[in-house]
Amino acid sequence: MRHFIDTQDFSKAELVWLMDLIGLLKTADREGALPPLLAGASLGMIFEEPSTRTRISFEVAMTKLGGHALYLKPGEIHLGVRESIKDSARVISRMVDAIEARTLKHATVTELARYASVPVINGLTDYNHPTQVLCDLFTMREHRPPGKALEALKVAFIGDATNVCSSLMMICTQIGMEFVHCAPPRYQAPDAWQSVARANCAQSGGRFWTTDDPVAAVAGADFVYTDLWWWIGQEAEIPDRTAAFMPAYQITAALLDKASPHAKFMHCLPASRGVEVTDAVMDGPRSIIYDQAENRLHAEKAILVAFVRPHLKIPSARRSAQYAHALGAFLHDHRLAGAETPATQHED
Ligand code: CP
Repeated sequence: MRHFIDTQDFSKAELVWLMDLIGLLKTADREGALPPLLAGASLGMIFEEPSTRTRISFEVAMTKLGGHALYLKPGEIHLGVRESIKDSARVISRMVDAIEARTLKHATVTELARYASVPVINGLTDYNHPTQVLCDLFTMREHRPPGKALEALKVAFIGDATNVCSSLMMICTQIGMEFVHCAPPRYQAPDAWQSVARANCAQSGGRFWTTDDPVAAVAGADFVYTDLWWWIGQEAEIPDRTAAFMPAYQITAALLDKASPHAKFMHCLPASRGVEVTDAVMDGPRSIIYDQAENRLHAEKAILVAFVRPHLKIPSARRSAQYAHALGAFLHDHRLAGAETPATQHED
């Protein structure tokens, strides 16, 4: 059973295949011709933190594909509290066809996958955000300069070494792109992440580097990306972080002017307008943030089709008709005393 926990678990060819699938599903959806590839399937969506894009995109993707999603909001189930993750994984697996989980700790999602008997999809942890960056890669492919190979693209990530930064440096270097992480030294990507990114480059021919110079980072960049400077639980660090990042690392129109003339601005969202990025950039002509956000929906559809559909039991029409007949006969011949509905009584 394959899960979608980390893009490092996939080859470049598989990532490209997933992007091709996103493209097909996006086109079919835009034409209102999306087949019900997940008819009757259920997705359990576990969230230990709030979400707008991940929650909505997975739920709508399931509905559009003929399935159903259950939103299990923070604190609503016993995961790791009153019940072990192992027991929760085994029980939930008996009732749904796949699990999407946004967990505070990365170890929680890997533990879920270890014991689940259905595919587990990582909807963001304290380490990475693979569904976001598969969408981002697809968005870059859509918005790259005409004729420019994916491998020739340069991505400059300016800001804190967030879970999105982690995943983005992995997927870009897996593809063979140039990826630069720019932040003050104490906020740069940890050595362990950098080692993985460099190993990816050794295999793919990509380039990974870090700097604390935003102008050097964005020079020649096709895409300039940023993320929040602090997240839930880091509120006490806001003064230090603001002092470290502001103003040099804020994405302004002046900084974007130093990138390639065709450079596009990306942000996984939510954004703190006026903090890591200005309103002028967010709302400006180089911003592709809403295309990027919409692509979460198309990417989730592809992930669900790729990982969940292979495990669905898809009965033949003949088998379904046999069961419909057998059940109809049973319900006609064996009534529960006193449970007849008015409609049933009327039919008699
Ligand atoms: N980018 C992202 O994952 O957004 P949400 O937190 O709203 O899901």
